[in-house]
Amino acid sequence: MTMVSRTGYADVLVGLQYGDEGKARIVDHLAGDYDVIARFNGGANAGHTIDAPGGALRLRQVPSGVLHPSLSLYIGSGCAIGLADLADEIAMLASRGISLRGRLIVSDRCLLVQPAHVARDRDEGGGVGTTGNGIGPCHADHATRMRGGMRVAFQLRDLVADSEAVFRHLGKPDTRVGMDAGMLTNSSGIARMRAAWRTVRGFVTAEPDHLLRRVEGGARVLFEGAQSVLLDLTHGEQPWVTSSHTVPAYAYVGGDLPCKYHRKTIGVAKAIVSRVGAGPFPSELGGTRSARYCATAAADRGARHREAAHHEPARLLASDDAFDIGSALRVLADEYGTVTGRPRRIGLLDVAQLRMTMRQHGIDEWFLNKCDCLAWFADTPRQAIPLFDGAPHGAAEPAVREFAAFRLDALPQGREDPLPPQLDALLHWLEDAVSCRLLGIGLGPARDQLRFLY
Ligand code: IMP
Repeated sequence: MTMVSRTGYADVLVGLQYGDEGKARIVDHLAGDYDVIARFNGGANAGHTIDAPGGALRLRQVPSGVLHPSLSLYIGSGCAIGLADLADEIAMLASRGISLRGRLIVSDRCLLVQPAHVARDRDEGGGVGTTGNGIGPCHADHATRMRGGMRVAFQLRDLVADSEAVFRHLGKPDTRVGMDAGMLTNSSGIARMRAAWRTVRGFVTAEPDHLLRRVEGGARVLFEGAQSVLLDLTHGEQPWVTSSHTVPAYAYVGGDLPCKYHRKTIGVAKAIVSRVGAGPFPSELGGTRSARYCATAAADRGARHREAAHHEPARLLASDDAFDIGSALRVLADEYGTVTGRPRRIGLLDVAQLRMTMRQHGIDEWFLNKCDCLAWFADTPRQAIPLFDGAPHGAAEPAVREFAAFRLDALPQGREDPLPPQLDALLHWLEDAVSCRLLGIGLGPARDQLRFLY
């Protein structure tokens, strides 16, 4: 007798570079094939933007399947929750007519980011260029496991069990941070958390096997990675990393599901690479000058508007200086932090790095966003699209390969229009170079500008 299995499965989707590859729009496109979209890492440090009918939706902690009303959304134990930010996000979605009631489930094992964590991060995270959301200090307290003094990592389950006692504890001053930070701990931060808890508590589950039961019942899960594999706490370059694990294997730890349900791993990259915060970026346009400029501009809340007002992209693109070309691409491709508004450092697509990342993390298929941005290279002095292919063994200089450029107006207008032949040739070369099926490409931010190639 043949047994018919109704058991579900899980796929994992991760970013392949330094974050901000446009993972959310891919999740939004694939969502119809799944029953649950789940987060397994990160917290309010993530910034996800989805093109939505009433204007762009900016998400930080809620999984990107929100636009699909039949989908469940799960926030797994690997996440560090910014309670007030999550409550704000739930309210923002409600104001856009998107109710999460009965759809969003949050594990009670999620870490609780405390006001003191945020204060410490803002005090100490400058060198790394953190997003200032308290992620590092929160994970650090979790790892030290100390319940005496102030070294306490609370989970949401502590609030479920005894919220008043926990709030009293949160209100104690943290002697490791300065006066301003202590004020934040004692007053407004705690009050905001109390109010936020009233919104969030109805979404929290105490069942560690919540997702497992769904999959045993046939649910298909898509795990959505936050940040990206090159920012993994262990596998990225310390200390220029985030404090959680961003690699696909971690989905089954932070996502609360046995790994035997894994089906495939999907990667997302973008054709012009960006990085926010400090750390190595071999293909950066303008090298250390760009890194220094962006670090300084990060403190300037108005950097985006200043650059939009004063940079002349056409003139900068025509320059011989890679720094200028990077600055032009930042403005044209709107590369500013979703959460912080920081100007992002801009670099070329690093093929050698991509190949290694895909091999190391077992990527089965991938998407490449922002292919339309490659058209700007037609206006550079070399009139060619440069791709960075790492330093060949023994060579001092990295290899840059050049591909024939195409113009923006050559991009397809309709679904049936062909790609410019130059872009088509580049994508075929790239697919071979990384030995992985390129499933689709982004040709602009709108929902209908994602093109599937298979
Ligand atoms: P943290 O995660 O806020 O501790 O920041 C650590 C590093 O990760 C910094 O370089 C941040 O800029 C970077 N980072 C954190 N979240 C994101 C993200 O969503 N996109 C891009 N970079 C991020």
